Amino acid sequence: MDSSERLIKGFSKLTKREKITWVAERFHSKPEEMKQLLSSFNHDDADLQKILDAFSENTIANFTMPYSIAPNFVINDMAYAVPMVIEESSVVAAASASAKYWMSRGGFKSTVISTTKVGQIHLTCNQDDAVLRQYFDKNKKLLQASCKDLLINMEQRGGGITDISLVTYNEEPDYYQIRMSFETCDSMGANFINSVLEAFAKALIESHQSTFGDKSNLQVVMCILSNYTPECLVRSEVSCAIDELQSVGGLSPVQFAHKFKKAVRIAEIDPYRATTHNKGIYNGIDAVVLATGNDFRAIEACGHAYACRDGQYKSLTHCEIVDDTFRFWIEVPMALGTVGGLTKLHPLAKISLDILGQPSAEELMKITATVGLAQNFGAVKSLISTGIQKGHMKMHLSNVLHQMKATEQEFKMAIDYFADKIVSHRAVQELLDTFRSMNGLNKENKTGA
Ligand code: MEV
Repeated sequence: MDSSERLIKGFSKLTKREKITWVAERFHSKPEEMKQLLSSFNHDDADLQKILDAFSENTIANFTMPYSIAPNFVINDMAYAVPMVIEESSVVAAASASAKYWMSRGGFKSTVISTTKVGQIHLTCNQDDAVLRQYFDKNKKLLQASCKDLLINMEQRGGGITDISLVTYNEEPDYYQIRMSFETCDSMGANFINSVLEAFAKALIESHQSTFGDKSNLQVVMCILSNYTPECLVRSEVSCAIDELQSVGGLSPVQFAHKFKKAVRIAEIDPYRATTHNKGIYNGIDAVVLATGNDFRAIEACGHAYACRDGQYKSLTHCEIVDDTFRFWIEVPMALGTVGGLTKLHPLAKISLDILGQPSAEELMKITATVGLAQNFGAVKSLISTGIQKGHMKMHLSNVLHQMKATEQEFKMAIDYFADKIVSHRAVQELLDTFRSMNGLNKENKTGA
């Protein structure tokens, strides 16, 4: 096919059916198969499908991900069953196992340290620093007042702008930044913050021009919230006497505690390990963020920036042993919302919040950070004892067997067989081929007998 036939103007104007046909016929070797598969990934309920389609552009189907529950989370003495959306086998199993582990050891304790969100107006101006600063200090209240229509609802809920400052950078002398701090209550606040920033910037330009006339050369480069919110911070922790810890993989509770602490310490000093360590934490965090209709890219970007806040990328979790007490905690920034955005629009996000008992944003921060901590506990516990592959391989085997349409009997046989062997796609295929051909032979033998 000529490559120009694979380019199109006005794709977004096509109907969904036309879009599917256009893509299938140009980009898929079996267009009819693709069309059929996509139609099974569109809801029969047309109203529901309409809601889902409206979340994005050019939608041709729903990409389905498993929606799971990790039960037995005890956080600040409250029991939660936590919804998680994740495709990686073993993540939910690990979170659930860690929740159960800590359920009988006092549960998790979680505290929100702060909830400040940040917005930035990026400006250029050739004015003298001191003149601009003086003008800004004199006018910032007035400029803030010009956003009052946008602020009124948020202020009634207890939020609003909490600070405004002018920031300069030596590296870029004509660049100024107005950094605003916000309290956005139960909303993540992105739309609110961006609207306020734009209104503030417009008022600023007008006011600066009327103050300095022809001498005003202040220009707005851009207005946008910052996803770095180091002061929207939550801490979750577990602790218990060392002898309450389980012996695991041949390690006594004391050996386990010290080996665990060492594993966390390695992630505090080595960025290669820290990245994998934190990735495991976000296996848990992202899954809850997705399930509750929040923005996992924002949450991850912020967490990784926070992980290198003092110049080196480090673990987000920490461990200490003091007077025979084992303590393990996470401190992580997390700008979540339980109102606005997709939280109520996506039917499953809404169900997730129902399951969690309609949490406030702060409560959701505590739950989500706790799942991250639990995930990390599960991963590090496996890594320092049985090794990660044992659990992973069990789930992998199950996936491969499903893919090969194994029967219940074949499942049992394969699980026994691979109890002490390495699982690979090929090895499972060979085992099933042998089993199936032996079964065939047996049948022949039976009929022959
Ligand atoms: C895999 O998704 C996550 C782990 O690699 C995390 C870790 O190594 O701590 C198991």
